[in-house]
Amino acid sequence: MSDDTSQRAIFATKIGAVAATVGSAVGLGNIWRFPYETGVHGGGAFIACYIVFVLLLGVPLLCAEFILGRGTRSNILGAFRDSSSGGRRWVGAGYMVILSSIMILWFYSVVAGWTLGYCYDSVTGSIAGMDSSEISDHFMEMTTGWRNVVLTVVFLLANAAVLLGGVTKGIERASNLLMPLLFVLLMVLCINSLSLDGLKEGMTFLFHPDFSKIDASVLLGAMGQAFFSLSIGMGCMTVYASYFNKESRLGRTALTTAVLDTLVAILAGVIIFPAVFTYGFSPEKGPALVFEVLPAVFGCMPGGMIWSAIFFLLLIVASITSTVSMSEISISYFEEELKMSRRNATILSSVLAMAGAVVCALSFGPLSDFTVCGMSMFDLLDYVTSNICLPVAGLIISVYVGWVVPARFTREQLTDGGSYPFPLYGVLMFVLRWVCPVAIMLIFLNSIGLL
Ligand code: TRP
Repeated sequence: MSDDTSQRAIFATKIGAVAATVGSAVGLGNIWRFPYETGVHGGGAFIACYIVFVLLLGVPLLCAEFILGRGTRSNILGAFRDSSSGGRRWVGAGYMVILSSIMILWFYSVVAGWTLGYCYDSVTGSIAGMDSSEISDHFMEMTTGWRNVVLTVVFLLANAAVLLGGVTKGIERASNLLMPLLFVLLMVLCINSLSLDGLKEGMTFLFHPDFSKIDASVLLGAMGQAFFSLSIGMGCMTVYASYFNKESRLGRTALTTAVLDTLVAILAGVIIFPAVFTYGFSPEKGPALVFEVLPAVFGCMPGGMIWSAIFFLLLIVASITSTVSMSEISISYFEEELKMSRRNATILSSVLAMAGAVVCALSFGPLSDFTVCGMSMFDLLDYVTSNICLPVAGLIISVYVGWVVPARFTREQLTDGGSYPFPLYGVLMFVLRWVCPVAIMLIFLNSIGLL
């Protein structure tokens, strides 16, 4: 374990640390995935389950990742290895996490590429005036052609540019700049939404839960979404916490992150659903909601292309602060364990990301015949990472921090060596030891049909 005087980079300010952490959490998960999952799973009931999972599992797991990260000030392998005497036996989990983070980046950057394309098309006005079937054709054309590949690569190059700057000059600076921009864009779009005729219907859909709709698929969906949206179970938050300075209070940062992340997701719902209802579209469109329904919705609005451009810019901003955090998992590993320079580590990580992302991008067109279990490469990666890798890694982290890491270590991190109290310590430990593992296991077994 090293201390604050080591040469390792740390975020320069407390606010920068929070901006980066919230930046990692807030992403396509909030603005693309949350609304469509809510739409597919019937609205308010899904949101109610989601909020319960965020508080019950999300905040404790965030704390667990923060403890591992700041306690060891190390990449994800070191975080397991150095946090307990038996930690060496757990480093296998670290490798799994690194691999899954790269796999998430593969499909995530393809979607981020689409947002780039749509922002461009809104600014040039090329999607203006299209009706919904024309928009669907446009989306189809974009995802099946080579443009998909170009957009993905452009996005990953921008991602690499931020990462090359390093922890403070790259990640922290970009987060400090982009997160306020993200909140301004969100507010502008929300205000627009308040003036729409479908406001009441949209709000009822979002905030009037019909609890009879809750079933296993709603629960699994809500849990997967909570993990994905909070960036947990992937070591992302562990790596970021390894750059926290001594002043960052872990419990508070976890709560702030969870609250802001949930707020953004709900605001995204407030932006999207009133608009969808105003122009008579269905909310149950699934992943295409943001790319096929929304542009058509914007097309019906006065000044629609401006709103559309703002919306897709919002998505780009949100995505890049998230992909940066995913890439940092492998970069910190290459730097610290394989002793590479920051530059080479960033290049290697970006090349790996591009190689897989291009295959993923092509899985809609030229490679669409290549399927595993009936799923294209893209669907497979989304399914395997969100429904298997994240819960399994979440399970490992909760068991590891709950049962294996010494109490002295966890307490030291949560209270900064006793300088302030952490009254919920007992509750946190109980949740990590029992509630998280049991909840994750039950929902997981049910999802793969074993229960
Ligand atoms: N949380 C991000 C989002 O909502 C995505 C993300 C970033 C992520 N890092 C992660 C998801 C690590 C899982 C694991 O878009």
